[in-house]
Amino acid sequence: MAVDIKSPKEIDLMRKAGRLAADTLLLVGEKLRIGMTTDEIDRIVHADTLRQGARPATLNYKGYPKSVCTSVNDIVCHGIPDGTVLKNGDIVNVDVTHVYEGFHGDTSATFYVGTPTAEARHVVEVARRALDEGIAQVRDGARLGDVGAAIQEYVEREGCGVVRDFVGHGIGRKFHDAPQVKHYGKRGTGDRIRAGMTFTIEPMVNLGGWEVEVDPNDKWTVRTADGSLSAQFEHTILVTRDGCEILTARGRALQNSENVAALFVA
Ligand code: MF3
Ligand code: CO
Ligand code: CO
Repeated sequence: MAVDIKSPKEIDLMRKAGRLAADTLLLVGEKLRIGMTTDEIDRIVHADTLRQGARPATLNYKGYPKSVCTSVNDIVCHGIPDGTVLKNGDIVNVDVTHVYEGFHGDTSATFYVGTPTAEARHVVEVARRALDEGIAQVRDGARLGDVGAAIQEYVEREGCGVVRDFVGHGIGRKFHDAPQVKHYGKRGTGDRIRAGMTFTIEPMVNLGGWEVEVDPNDKWTVRTADGSLSAQFEHTILVTRDGCEILTARGRALQNSENVAALFVA
């Protein structure tokens, strides 16, 4: 499938959508507390998105019932906010997607609830770095396989598994568009990346094996098959001549995630 190249006007709207989604994620990091429910995160995201003049892309998307995905511990992605109470030592990925003036901005991060265990720290920090390793491959003329290989090599070197069943995606007026951005693969293979493309990179990293299972009841919640912890980070990026621009870059540090050292002072 052809991958579209955005015009300067479209890129400006993508920048705005990305920045607003990033701002909402920052707010979640600031409000996150032990004892909070994932439904409370949904309410924060919903209200902040509307306040910004944007719309939550996930609400009613293919029947998805909430304004954000909240994936706790062994939930890999697409966790549905509910009455689940976050407890000390949990990890939770919060995946925010805004639609602003018709354009999407998609970003996620994994947060530490209270003080993390050593295992939680490992899987979260590997996922954070895996996204950086993928982003470092992006420039006009590189191949999608270079991105996937860099992520897979790093994650497996760290003794973790990278999920195969869910991938990054082209994004723009459509939430999920071509190309598919795999988080595994071989260097020098796959389609060429071109300046002006916008897509997400969003590696899901499991502490154990890469295999996952979709909840047979709600048909959304994805869990690790072996019950191990899973973490994820996601950015929406714009490809440029010699690299990329992170459209969902954050203007300040993400509380309860990037400040790991501070989390250990207590
Ligand atoms: N935000 C997710 C992604 O990164 C997609 C969520 S779709 C939903 O692509 F329906 F599960 F919310
Ligand atoms: Co995405
Ligand atoms: Co997302």
